[in-house]
Amino acid sequence: MTLTMRHHWLLLGACGWVLLILMFVSKFISFRAVDGKLLFIVLITSGIKVISPLSYPPVGPTVAEWELVADRRIKLLSTVCENSSLRNLTHISINKFVLDRIFVCDKHKILFCQTPKVGNTQWKKVLIVLNGAFSTVEEIPENLVHDHEKNGLPRLSSFMPQEITHRLNTYFKFLIVRDPFERLISAFKDKFVKNPRFEPWYKHDIAPAIIRKYRKSHRNNDLTASGLHFEDFVRYLGDAEGRRRMDRQFGEHVIHWVTYAELCAPCEIRYSVVGHHETLEQDAPYILKAAGIDQLVSYPAIPPGITRYNRTKVEHYFSGISKRDIRRLYARYQGDFHLFGYPEPDFLLN
Ligand SMILES: *[C@@H]1O[C@H](CO)[C@@H](O)[C@H](O)[C@H]1NC(C)=O
Ligand SMILES: *[C@@H]1O[C@H](CO)[C@@H](O)[C@H](O)[C@H]1NC(C)=O
Ligand SMILES: *[C@@H]1O[C@H](CO)[C@@H](O)[C@H](O)[C@H]1NC(C)=O
Repeated sequence: MTLTMRHHWLLLGACGWVLLILMFVSKFISFRAVDGKLLFIVLITSGIKVISPLSYPPVGPTVAEWELVADRRIKLLSTVCENSSLRNLTHISINKFVLDRIFVCDKHKILFCQTPKVGNTQWKKVLIVLNGAFSTVEEIPENLVHDHEKNGLPRLSSFMPQEITHRLNTYFKFLIVRDPFERLISAFKDKFVKNPRFEPWYKHDIAPAIIRKYRKSHRNNDLTASGLHFEDFVRYLGDAEGRRRMDRQFGEHVIHWVTYAELCAPCEIRYSVVGHHETLEQDAPYILKAAGIDQLVSYPAIPPGITRYNRTKVEHYFSGISKRDIRRLYARYQGDFHLFGYPEPDFLLN
């Protein structure tokens, strides 16, 4: 027996032993899921590799399950669109304001309607990369994300009427929504309390105008010193007729608080998919797949917990605001609640 032959026999024997051990061990630990992490044992012809623990998304829906959910959302949307008693709140003509909200990715035939305070910056970055101006999401400078003259992500309004119709009829179209009241709280915090970007007009122009018209107590001479209160904001938002003239003066800034219906005309435009902020971790990868771009880009990592609905927070903001004002606000936003399947916030209304 030559040396090489002995080597072969030894190797074969060793492999046999390992296989036997593996068969024995696999009875006890085979593919056990540990806290959403799968322990993977991979057998490769050349030997045995144990990859563990391979991080794996927490138990989420399968493609089929998600498609069922997505389908139900679209069906609900069209049912509510047909409800005549909500007609004034759900039907919006496809005007310039709506076309300004929709971003176009011609290369992959995608339209995205922007709904601020719902993680839209990240989606815009994904589409900017797809359009080719930058090769990764990380490379896009923050100040360019919203600069649509320069970032290669055109608005639908910049096209000719027949080009617009063609895109609306044939492209993949999506928008992302979240609980309507939580969105208003987020807009209030972001624009009137923190205002992290330098946008002085919210505090210097819009807040004083709302306070002058909607603050209950006018005893204090320097009304605007303490800034906009959530109560002022709620009273302004609930005053459908009275705020119309103000909103024209506020211009585009109202995108942070007008209804989803007003932003995206979901009863006139047949959206392919509606994503929910509350389930974004599951929705984002499937939206990419449904749009046929999952091999090209991925949605940036979502910090855990930030997308979850927080009832305590909602209760906290609305505590001390009169039922009358909350009911008026709900009356104005109930179209959004119904269209997208958010439950009526009866803990605030009754
Ligand atoms: C239409 O909407 C109203 C108001 O939410 C609701 O009471 C009614 O049941 C709806 N009608 C149908 C047919 O769903
Ligand atoms: C819808 O709006 C029109 C015009 O503003 C108004 O006359 C009508 O009463 C409204 N309908 C409902 C159901 O609120
Ligand atoms: C919900 O909101 C409350 C009040 O703003 C906050 O204290 C709490 O940490 C939030 N809970 C979660 C799970 O984020």
